[in-house]
Amino acid sequence: MVLNPSQGVVDLFTSPNIQFSLDREGEEPIYRQLIRHIKTQIDSGVLPTGTRLPASRDLAQHLNISRISVVNAYAELRAEGYLSAHAGRGTFVAKDNGGSSSPPEKSPTQPDLTNATPDRSLREMMRLARQPGIINFGPGAPPIELLPTQFLKEAINAVIDRDGAKALGYEMTEGYGPLRTAVRDYVTALGIQCSASDVLITGGTQQALDLVIQALVSEGETIVTEAPTYIGMIDIIQTRRIQAQGVATDEEGIRLDHLENYLIEHAPKLIYVMPTYQNPTGMVMPLHRRRQLINLAVEYNTPILEDAVYHEFRFEGDSIPPLKALDESGIVIHASGFTKMLLPGIRIGYLIANGTHYNRLVRVKQAADISTPGLNQRTIHWMLERGVMAQQLERNNREFKRRRDIALAAAKKYLPAGTKWKTPEGGLYLWVTLPRNGPTAAELYISAIQVGVGYAIGNVFYPQNPDNFTIRLNYGAHRPAEIEEGFRRLGATWRELAAEYAEIEKSPLL
Ligand SMILES: Cc1ncc(COP(=O)(O)O)c(C=O)c1O
Repeated sequence: MVLNPSQGVVDLFTSPNIQFSLDREGEEPIYRQLIRHIKTQIDSGVLPTGTRLPASRDLAQHLNISRISVVNAYAELRAEGYLSAHAGRGTFVAKDNGGSSSPPEKSPTQPDLTNATPDRSLREMMRLARQPGIINFGPGAPPIELLPTQFLKEAINAVIDRDGAKALGYEMTEGYGPLRTAVRDYVTALGIQCSASDVLITGGTQQALDLVIQALVSEGETIVTEAPTYIGMIDIIQTRRIQAQGVATDEEGIRLDHLENYLIEHAPKLIYVMPTYQNPTGMVMPLHRRRQLINLAVEYNTPILEDAVYHEFRFEGDSIPPLKALDESGIVIHASGFTKMLLPGIRIGYLIANGTHYNRLVRVKQAADISTPGLNQRTIHWMLERGVMAQQLERNNREFKRRRDIALAAAKKYLPAGTKWKTPEGGLYLWVTLPRNGPTAAELYISAIQVGVGYAIGNVFYPQNPDNFTIRLNYGAHRPAEIEEGFRRLGATWRELAAEYAEIEKSPLL
């Protein structure tokens, strides 16, 4: 039976004319089946213009599917002009699209989510925010307008004038000698005792992480990460076909009681952590926990991979030494880079490792790409020597603090009551937990995109057991006016959706 809109909410699934059955085992994602079915009903006139559709929550319950499937289906149908949503009133068949009129072409920026796994479809959803005009808090990049473009130009010219063709040949796999020495000097200032021969130059920090996984972990073996963790490590884990166990975190970082249990029971190959300005949470592991973590790793003879890419992004709080500076036994491998700090596109990262780890890493690096481009290494070396990075860091951190303060004020002003976050003392990110009585982060996302704001859906940062209400906002990459406006839109969209859910809960059921 199909109800007249004035009588209440339409029943989408008992039309006398159209049969619908969900294929739960098939290749086609549920939400796409739903889209197909609703389109057929609209195109055939079974659902005339103005018909009100059931609330996502009700439809999900009725069909025994996840609410995100319904929300995604409605959102895509809205984007295609089939449906329209009215705050507090619900979702309706759009006026200009009833019966025979054909829907607009699918936007080329819209991802094809067919056959996507849940994790992949969230990532695909996040690509929606790459359209021009969207205030996108999603990506992890530093602000492009602060990159030292002029210095780079000078540096490249100076290096070519100085070294000529030598700058363009193969480098040693371990890295350009003077840069390895400069890295040694740089990390020594952070408290790390090492020699230039412990430094391996890599293609960004990402490659540094990947090399460690390749060197130490074989297919099918397991590593431990914080939960949530860096999405790029999840990518490595998946592409290298290894397993990851996320260990819960608290205010001080990875929970050592949980970690110890896991070490005892499963003997993982590696512990991967970001002790300072963790991505995505912004958390800082205090000194005492750093020491305990190292002790535990030594006790269970499990190497630690320390990702310190944000270590220098401090605008408040005490400076705490990296794990590698506290490591007397060589159990810690330290990874970082001059990407976030200086120039992401020049792709210079490094590893600090001792002994057998180091030799193995060099072999893997050689197999991967022979060496990191010499011109890039020499250019970064030139900039380090002239203090460009120190200057850049100082300026960036001042600006990040300003943007952090604006983000916090905007969060307080615009995000709904019950939203939670921790004040980051460094780094680029605000990690937010939405109130649990409203839309999930993925549900909110599609509506947020429609009003021109994007963010990273928290689920993508968990190796397992995600928290559906978390989001990561990169405030560092945006100018103050954009931060204010983006947070305003986000708060308004959350309220609209929450009101829609509340209203629909009151309306007659299917
Ligand atoms: C925690 C963390 N590690 C590593 C990377 C990779 O950085 P790079 O650009 O140096 O490869 C990122 C980039 O987002 C990151 O957030």
